Order: sequence, then C-alpha cells, then structure tokens
Amino acid sequence: MSKNIIITGVSTGIGRATLDLLHQKGYHIYGSVRKKEDADELSSIYTTRFTPLQFDVQNHDEVVKASSIVFENCDRVAALVNNAGIAVPGPLELLTEEEFEMQLDVNVKSVRRITNLFLPLLKPKANKQAGRIINISSVSGLFNSPFNGAYCISKHALESINDIYRRELRQYGIQVIAIEPGPIKTEIWKKNLNKMDRFKDSDYYEVLKKADRMIENAERNALPVEKISTLILKCISIKRPKTRYIVHKNKFFFRLMAYYFPDKLTDWLVRKTLTSSNRHRPI
Ligand SMILES: NC(=O)c1ccc[n+]([C@@H]2O[C@H](COP(=O)([O-])OP(=O)(O)OC[C@H]3O[C@@H](n4cnc5c(N)ncnc54)[C@H](OP(=O)(O)O)[C@@H]3O)[C@@H](O)[C@H]2O)c1
Repeated sequence: MSKNIIITGVSTGIGRATLDLLHQKGYHIYGSVRKKEDADELSSIYTTRFTPLQFDVQNHDEVVKASSIVFENCDRVAALVNNAGIAVPGPLELLTEEEFEMQLDVNVKSVRRITNLFLPLLKPKANKQAGRIINISSVSGLFNSPFNGAYCISKHALESINDIYRRELRQYGIQVIAIEPGPIKTEIWKKNLNKMDRFKDSDYYEVLKKADRMIENAERNALPVEKISTLILKCISIKRPKTRYIVHKNKFFFRLMAYYFPDKLTDWLVRKTLTSSNRHRPI
C-alpha cells in the first residue's frame, strides 16, 4: 500500500494535527502551506517523510508548480485530504461580492481544481490500489446557521462535490469520504474575532454584537483536534470507511435537528438561541 498522503493546509489546526499523526504512523506527507516560514518550520520538525508544497489554493498556477515534486516522487498516493479552508462570517446581505467569491473559491472551487490535478495519482495502476479522497466538510454542510451563510453555502457545495466525486469515481475504486465536524479547537475561531463591528450600523447588529462572546463560548466547548486526526487516519487505513462522519458533541440531537425537525421548529430554535443566549455558533 502506498504511504504517500497529500494534505492541504498543514500550518495549523486539523491539517497540522493530521500531519503529526500520519507522520508518526510512517506515512510520507506532502503538506501544503502558504508561507515559506511555515514550510521551513515544519521541515525542521519533520526532517524525513515530509515535503512542503508551497501554494495558496486560490492560485492554481502555484498549485500546479508545487505539485510537480509529488509527480516526480510518487506514482500513486494513498489519500488526498482536502482540508484548507476559511470561514467568512457576516449577514448574507452585507458580505461583499469579493468576500463571497473568496469563501467559495477557497472552500469549494479549489477543492475541484486540486482533486482533478491529483486524480492521476489516485487512480489504480497495475496491481496498485486506488487512493482515497477525504474532504473536511462541516456540520455547516448539513445545517444552515444565520450570519454564517457564506461558509454554510460553501460546505453544502463541498458535500455535493463529495457525493458527486464518490459516484463518478466509483469505477476506479476511489473511495470519497466527507468528515463533518462541529466545533473543534483550532485557530479558525480566533481568526473571526472582532469582525462584526463593521456591521454596527445595520439592523443585524443587535445579534452580531454578541458574536465574539459566541465564538469564545463555542471555542471553549469545542472538541480536541485529535478527534479529527484519528478519524482521518481511520478513513485512510480501514477497508470500508463510511461515506460521511459527523463529529459533534451531541451527534444524536444534531442529526435529529438537521434531518427530521420541521423547518419552522428549527427556525424557532435558532431564533431563540440567537436572541436569548450566547450559545449559537456564528462560524
Ligand atoms: N475548527 C472547526 O471548528 C471546524 C469545524 C468544521 C470544519 N472545519 C474545517 O476544517 C478545515 C481546517 O480548518 P481548521 O479548523 O484546522 O482551521 P485553521 O487552523 O484556520 O487551518 C486552516 C488551514 O487552511 C489553510 N488555508 C486557508 N486559506 C488558504 C488558502 N487560500 N490557500 C492555502 N491554504 C489556506 C491555512 O493556512 P494559513 O496558516 O496560511 O492561513 C491553514 O493551514 C477547514 O476546511 C474548516 O472549514 C473546522
């Protein structure tokens, strides 16, 4: 079995924890970073079996250039983990076109570009098994939270990408898996602190002014990042992984709400948490 894994976004959070765990397990990781400092730092920690790929997922020329080292060194990879992502919070009405486009380009369009680029290394070759694609989606791909709209739209689209590739790539034996985490303790949370003041003059501010408290609260209750890195290892190594995994503190209630509650009941619950507490997760 091939021991090569490609992971996008290994500088922090889920990507970094996954790099760490898979490296311990003997895999060679081709991990993407945007900054040279991150490439240098990680190369000094992982002195063997780690190759940094330096690119911004929005710049496909950069991605193609960086990918040449993978094509030179590998004839196949065991898995591609599409992990790099951002969350652009704010009311759908007031996000700029550029912000909306950036959210979709990073979380959705780049996933298709990067997956297509590496597909030749995932397809089976003589006597060699097919690789797997693991998409780091979110519970926001199953449930739409207000003021987190662009992110939810991006993760819903990623869920579609996941299902479509799974059905289209079946002929090659490529398994495609979505991981759908609820809040996980990573850097993504603090990146969205102090972002709501720009909506001060809007009708939404009554709710949005609580956003930082909501973020801090959600981060405090978030699950450890190892919950996801160990699941990724499982998705790579077991024979028959499921097609999707929800990782949430209250998976049963979440599933019930996302799939079975009538819309109007869910609308009422969302409204109640937004107006009466600071528990609703804004990103
Ligand atoms: N944390 C959660 O609660 C949670 C829940 C559900 C889903 N997720 C998903 O998990 C994935 C990883 O997020 P995380 O929580 O680990 O957040 P994170 O710590 O902020 O990590 C995000 C990673 O993506 C990279 N990245 C962002 N924009 C990029 C771009 N344009 N080009 C290349 N790389 C880029 C970042 O690189 P830089 O360091 O260069 O910015 C970083 O390595 C995301 O897809 C996120 O949506 C997270």
